[in-house]
This record gives sequence, structure tokens and C-alpha cells, in this order.
Amino acid sequence: MVGVAVVGVVVAIAASLLHDGLSSRATPSKLEAVIARNAHRLAIPSDARSTQNPVVASEEDLRAARLHFADHCATCHDNDGSGQTLYGKGLYPHPPDLRLPETQNLTDGELFWIIENGVRFTGMPAFASAGDHNGHGGALDSWKLVHFIRHLPHLTAAERVEMERYNPKGPDERAEEQEENNFLNGVTPKAKPESQNQHPR
Ligand code: HEC
Repeated sequence: MVGVAVVGVVVAIAASLLHDGLSSRATPSKLEAVIARNAHRLAIPSDARSTQNPVVASEEDLRAARLHFADHCATCHDNDGSGQTLYGKGLYPHPPDLRLPETQNLTDGELFWIIENGVRFTGMPAFASAGDHNGHGGALDSWKLVHFIRHLPHLTAAERVEMERYNPKGPDERAEEQEENNFLNGVTPKAKPESQNQHPR
């Protein structure tokens, strides 16, 4: 009887994992989502979990963290933490909405640990080695990001607009922005052939 039950559970898990042919376009089943979330929670050492945030965030720190998030995290998580981006929607598992209780109920130590170490078998990278180049403070930056994640549910429209200027951009967007700036600064675009070719009145 026990053997049959075990085989049944294994088949159910396999079926759940293999649905949609291992494509990352699918939305993880409830079972997978529960396994994934709890697996990474189990992986966090208990002393890391109870570590307090050593950074008392000033307005300036919060702004730095916000722009850091716009630059390094928003590609997947979006500026508002919703995860509704091209990358976020294409990842499996999808990044969770960081504003919701499932994330907000994690301790500061858990959020810090996840940012530093990443989440294995998911798109969430480890950022621990991201410090030390161009003057960033590594662990301190991650603690500031923890403050920002706490702030996400209260993000204002103005903060969001500012973040958009710090999102990584491709060449097309840069060119478009340059054109807009030229327009706003009254720089006239180079004469186009058709403007020299106007019909005589
Ligand atoms: C390449 C995509 C990607 C980038 C870039 C990224 N993340 Fe993630 N992140 C994910 C995914 C996917 C998950 C979900 C992992 C899981 O299922 O446990 C995640 C999970 C998290 C979680 C855990 C949420 C929870 O409730 O379990 C936190 C916190 C987080 N990310 C913060 C950040 C921060 C801060 C940055 C930038 C420094 C960042 N992420 C950059 C993809 C990304």
C-alpha cells in the first residue's frame, strides 16, 4: 500500500514538473510553486534569516537604492516590483510580485540573503560579487535594496518616473531619447531632402 502511494506521489510530481514539455512559457503549477518557494527558504541558514539590517536608510540611501534597482533589477522585476516585464514574463518560475505579503513577510535577513546569493534553478542572480567595481559597496548596497523592497508597496508615481530614466536602454531607445532632447532644446534636425523639395505655391 505504502509503495503504491509513493509511486503515485512521484508520478504526480513528475507530471507536474514536465507539463508543457519543460517550456518556461508556462505558469508553474501550484505544487511546483510551493516546492520552489519552500526549497529556497530551507536553503537560507537560520542565522542569516535573523540578521538585522545594519543600514539606517537616509533619504539619499533610499534614492540610491531605487536607482540601483531601476538599473540592475527592473529588467526582470519592473520598477514597481510587479515582475510584469518581457524578461519577467518569460522566466520560469516568474519573478513574484515583490509588493505582496509572500515577499514582504520575509525577514530583512532573508531578503538580503536572496539578493546576495540568488535562487538556484531560477532566473534570480546572485549579486554578492557585484560589489567593489565602480565604487559600489557590495553588501551595504544589498541592505539598501532591502529597504527599497520594503518601500515598493508605497512607491509614488514621481519615483517611478525617475526610475524609468535609469532603466537599461537599447540603441533604439537611446536614439529616440536623443531626438526628443534635441527637439526640447530647440535643435533643428538636419534638413531632410523633402523639405528642400517643397512644391512651389
Ligand atoms: C534575470 C532576472 C532577474 C534579475 C535581474 C533580478 N531578479 Fe530577483 N528574482 C528573479 C526571479 C525569477 C525570482 C523568483 C525566484 C524564485 O522563484 O524563488 C526572483 C526573486 C527575487 C526575490 C525573492 C522574492 C520572494 O518572495 O521569494 C527578491 C527579494 C529579489 N528577487 C530581488 C532582486 C533584486 C534586489 C535584484 C537586483 C539587484 C534582482 N532581484 C534582480 C529574477 C531576477
